[in-house]
Amino acid sequence: MPRNGKSVFSKFLRLLSREILAALMSTFQTLTWLKEKRALRLLDQRRLPTAEIFLECEDLPQIVEAIKTLAVRGAPAIGVAAAYGVVIGVQKAIATGNGITAPTLTTIIDVLAATRPTAVNLFWALERMKRVGEEGLKRGLDETALRDLLLVEADRIYAEDDRAHHRLGEYGAKLIPAEARILTHCNAGALACAEYGTALGVIRAAQAAGKNIKVYADETRPLLQGSRLTTWELLKEKIPVTLICDNMAAHCMAKGMIDLVIVGADRIAANGDTANKIGTYSVALAAKAHNLPFYVAAPTSTIDFSLADGSMIPIEERDPDEVRFFGEKRTAPEKVAVYNPAFDVTPATLISAFITEKGIFTPDQISSTR
Ligand code: MRU
Repeated sequence: MPRNGKSVFSKFLRLLSREILAALMSTFQTLTWLKEKRALRLLDQRRLPTAEIFLECEDLPQIVEAIKTLAVRGAPAIGVAAAYGVVIGVQKAIATGNGITAPTLTTIIDVLAATRPTAVNLFWALERMKRVGEEGLKRGLDETALRDLLLVEADRIYAEDDRAHHRLGEYGAKLIPAEARILTHCNAGALACAEYGTALGVIRAAQAAGKNIKVYADETRPLLQGSRLTTWELLKEKIPVTLICDNMAAHCMAKGMIDLVIVGADRIAANGDTANKIGTYSVALAAKAHNLPFYVAAPTSTIDFSLADGSMIPIEERDPDEVRFFGEKRTAPEKVAVYNPAFDVTPATLISAFITEKGIFTPDQISSTR
């Protein structure tokens, strides 16, 4: 397309709202800021794949509940939701006539920070919101101007996230052979991010580049993000996907059915040790045993340089009933003891490379992304 034509076309695309675009492309919108209602609309991921229902969060407790119960989930999406949560908390405080002070802002941020401990994107986004809010207060902005400034920052976090994921998708696609059978664990797709996805962003970009991709999706017990969300998302995009139970991954590798593994990340320590959904570590061990590349796709905002290694990453433990039940059905004695860590840490030695928006890095190179 001529340069001029291209710019007119991109202008036209920009004019279309994200919602209309999503509808036209028969995709979906994980998070949407509703300008008129000043509310955050979330695709309720607890209900997928059987129902596509949206939640409209208009106050802080609703956002907190949505993050805790995984209506919105995935490291980058949690960060974006929390950023809008700050805007909502602040506008509620304004509406109640209590005004906004530094301690009120801190309380709102602390409530959001206490929702989930592992994904560092949550704390990264809240830190940005805090900085902007405190600067606004110092400048003596009135309440409405402060609220609007916070909204600009939340929008910026959303847009930067999305750009980073597209960029890392492009880098990652270069690592994918022309024909590839890719195993992924959990959901690191558009449902886990602002729009595009990290691990699934690479897969999307590879498919868009004309590569012949087939995905194997681990079911991801106990909350089934792989079977409920990854397969749903890939089917929508017409990317071939086969669902397997978590305990089938090593078997598939042994049978020569997998060429490489790509997963997302919740927090990457300075040495490259990586926390991701429980079960990722076993997949990485199996990949190593079968000599298969194991890639972690994540924006650099997921790297926590304050932690020297993965032993320092806080691991969330969740309700034992998530393990006693399979969906709605109890599959274990009511009183059996349960251990339910939501994440594990894959040592850097098992990771072939990190795919980031700044390029591809081996674990010993990630300090250069700082
Ligand atoms: O408990 P969840 O569903 O929030 O866990 C999500 C994951 O572990 C993802 O793999 C990770 O956040 C990367 S998402 C791009």
